[in-house]
Amino acid sequence: MKKDKLRFFKRLKRFNYGYFRIKIYDLKLLKLFESRRDVSKLSLKLEVSPELIEQRMQEFGRSLAPYYKDYVSTTSSDVMAMSFELATFTLALCEIAKPKKILDLGSGFSSFCFRYWIKNHSPNSEVLTVDDAPVWLDKTREFLRHNDLPGNGLITWDELTVGGYGMFDLVFYDFGSFPVRKSSLNRVLDFASLPSITILDDMHSGDYGLHVKKTLRERTMECFSLLRYTTDKFRRYAYLAIR
Ligand SMILES: C[S@@+](CC[C@H](N)C(=O)[O-])C[C@H]1O[C@@H](n2cnc3c(N)ncnc32)[C@H](O)[C@@H]1O
Repeated sequence: MKKDKLRFFKRLKRFNYGYFRIKIYDLKLLKLFESRRDVSKLSLKLEVSPELIEQRMQEFGRSLAPYYKDYVSTTSSDVMAMSFELATFTLALCEIAKPKKILDLGSGFSSFCFRYWIKNHSPNSEVLTVDDAPVWLDKTREFLRHNDLPGNGLITWDELTVGGYGMFDLVFYDFGSFPVRKSSLNRVLDFASLPSITILDDMHSGDYGLHVKKTLRERTMECFSLLRYTTDKFRRYAYLAIR
C-alpha cells in the first residue's frame, strides 16, 4: 500500500510546470496559427512571396533529389540527415539572401547542399562545416569528394571555438545531441553577424524548441516558424531567426 502511494505521487510529479509548457508547445492548432502568422511576417521581411519561395524549393528539389537519395542510403539515414524539405528550403533561401559566409553546424547533407549551391550559383561565397564528431566530418568529406565537391573547410567544434573564423551571415544549426545543442546555442549565436539569418532544425522537440525560443527572445532576435515549408514525414520542422 505504501509503495503504491509512493508510485502515485511519483507519477503526479511528472505533471509539473515544464510538462504543461511542453503540452501547450505541442498543440497542433497553436503551431498552425503561429506558422500562418510567421509565413506572412517572413515574406514581408525577405520581400518575397511564399509562392515564390515554394517555386524555388521545387526547382532545387528537382536537382537535389538524386543526391539526397544517395546520401540517406549510402552515408547516413533520413532520420539523421536534414529533411529533403529543409534542404530545398535552405537553398531557396540562399538564392534569396545570397549569403557570403556560411556556418554549417552539423556535417552531412547540409554540407553537400551549401557546396552544391556555391559551385553552381555563388562561386564567391564560402562555407565552413563544423561537427563535434570527427568521424562524421570524414564521412561527409568522402561524400563531397564522391560528388566532385571540395572536401576542405571541415573542422571540429573545438577548432571553431579556438577562434579566428570571424562572423557568418548564414548559420545552419543542426549538430550534436539535444543537450549539446542546448548548451552550445548561445556560443553559436555569437557567430551570427549583424545582419544575419540562422536556421535552427528540429523544433518539433518541445523541450529543445522552448529553450531555443527563450534564448532568441533574450537576445532580441526575431524568429519565424518554418512549419509550412520544412515539415517532413517525421513531423520535424525548422525555425529561422534574424539578427
Ligand atoms: C542531425 S545530425 C546532422 C545532420 C546534417 N546537418 C545533415 O544535414 O545531414 C546531428 C549530428 O549527428 C551526427 N550524425 C550525422 N549522421 C548520423 C548518423 N547517420 N548516425 C549517427 N550520427 C549521425 C553528426 O555528428 C551530426 O553533427
